[in-house]
Formats: sequence, structure tokens, C-alpha cells
Amino acid sequence: MRRLMWIPLLILVGVALTACEDEQPRTSSDSAYQAPEPTTIPAAAPDPDRGHTLYTTWRCAGCHGERGQGQVGGALAGTTLPFEQFVQAVRQTRPPKPAFSTAELSDDDVRDIYAWVTSLPAAAEVSAALTLEEGEVLGMSVWTQSGCDACHGAFAQGSAYAPPLVETDLSLNDFLAALRRDVTTIPAHGPDAITDEWAARLYRWLVTGASITGGC
Ligand code: HEC
Ligand code: HEC
Repeated sequence: MRRLMWIPLLILVGVALTACEDEQPRTSSDSAYQAPEPTTIPAAAPDPDRGHTLYTTWRCAGCHGERGQGQVGGALAGTTLPFEQFVQAVRQTRPPKPAFSTAELSDDDVRDIYAWVTSLPAAAEVSAALTLEEGEVLGMSVWTQSGCDACHGAFAQGSAYAPPLVETDLSLNDFLAALRRDVTTIPAHGPDAITDEWAARLYRWLVTGASITGGC
């Protein structure tokens, strides 16, 4: 009789022990098991020195002046444009200014450029605009007004989906033929976007290096 009374007691103890084992063991590295709090990686502080380098590499200097004092493009030194408007302008074509895609310059890159130009004192006076040969226009204007920059890159350097055209090896005839080949799929290749005469002028500008200050 006494022996039998132990049996339910042992079962109870057994249940209690199993319940304890089901609990996660607590260790000092417990926090590693917790779901991480959603965090946003803090953006690196804008880097004006890097911005200066990008400004030169992406030829902003050629149109806005070495120190952002302005030339073909207006002054950017000490600009009062808010960043949102600045980046919007960078993304848009404003002939002769090409549109810079996010593949060419990321928003962070533009932020660094912005940090550099806003660190400069506002330009006292804007440099004189370029003078071209009689009858010439900026090749860059023809390039951007025809919308070629949208696919072939800001400076005809090519993109992930369209070949480079700067210093093309094509003959003028092959250039014109290639340009007219894809009119249905690429409307910008059609005569409505660019006439043969302007395409030929653009071709000369491209084969001679597509200088941003060069005419055609
Ligand atoms: C081929 C010449 C050319 C190049 C290259 C060029 N720009 Fe411009 N940019 C212009 C012209 C022209 C305008 C329109 C007139 C103006 O507002 O200065 C302009 C306008 C702008 C504006 C708007 C200014 C405003 O006050 O509204 C910004 C910002 C700008 N450019 C930034 C850049 C940056 C950054 C680069 C280099 C990544 C660059 N541009 C390269 C010619 C150029
Ligand atoms: C919507 C995008 C787009 C636009 C805008 C565009 N192109 Fe193209 N272009 C392409 C693609 C994609 C190719 C390559 C496929 C092909 O050759 O059919 C190409 C090929 C070419 C070729 C042949 C290059 C070679 O080496 O075979 C020429 C020349 C050319 N484009 C000129 C121009 C000119 C000039 C403009 C502006 C008037 C222009 N393109 C505008 C997308 C574009």
C-alpha cells in the first residue's frame, strides 16, 4: 500500500522535470536567439572631397567651371537649391546638359557633389559662354536634344543596354544605316528624332571625341 502511493508522486515529479527541460536553456549568449530589431544603416556623412573628384570625373567642371563658377551651365558654387531640386536637375536633360542616370551617378554620389559645391563661396561672376565657329552648335546640344543620352550614356560612353558611340569605328554610311535600323523599337533612331543632316554632324562630333565644349 505505501509503495503504491509513491507511483503517482514519481509520475508528477517526472512531468515537472520534462516541463523544465522543454524550456530553452538560458545562457549568457541569449540575445543571439532574439529576432534583431529592424535597423536602418546610418548613411555615411556626405564627403565633399569625393564630391569634388566626381565633379571632375563626370565633367561637370567642363560646363560649370573648375570651381563651380559657371560657364556653359550656370554657377553651382554656393548654390541655394535644396538637395531634392539639385538631384532632380542632375537627372534631367537641360540641353546641352545630359541626363545623368542612377547607374552613372547614384544619389549618394550626387549628395557628395552637392556637399562640395555648397562648401564653395558663391561665384562673384559667371565666366563667358563658349564661342563656336560660324554655323556650328554645341555637339552636346544635338546629342541631348535628340535624346541619345538617355540610352547611350551622358557622354556617349555607352550603358548596360546601348553601345558606346564616342569614337565609333563605324563609317558615316554605316552609322546612318544603324541609326535607322531600329526605328520601330527605338523611336529615337527615327528621322523624326534626328534628320540625316544633324545625324551626320553628330557623327563628326562623336568620332572626334565628343568634347563637351566642341561644336558640330
Ligand atoms: C554639357 C554641359 C553640362 C554638363 C557636362 C553638366 N551640366 Fe549641369 N547644366 C548645364 C546647363 C546648360 C544647365 C541649365 C542652365 C543652368 O541652370 O545652369 C545645367 C543645369 C544644372 C543644374 C541646375 C542648376 C539650377 O540652378 O537650376 C544642376 C544642379 C547641374 N546642372 C548640375 C550638374 C552636375 C552635378 C554635373 C556633372 C555631374 C553637370 N551639371 C554637368 C550644363 C552642363
Ligand atoms: C531608347 C534607347 C536609345 C536611344 C534613345 C538611342 N539609342 Fe541608339 N541604340 C540603342 C540600342 C539598344 C542600340 C543597340 C542595338 C542596335 O544596334 O539595334 C543602339 C545602337 C545605335 C547605333 C549602332 C551602334 C553600333 O555600334 O552598331 C547607333 C549609330 C545609334 N544607336 C545612334 C543613336 C543616336 C545618334 C541616338 C540619338 C538620336 C540614339 N542612338 C538614341 C538604343 C537607343
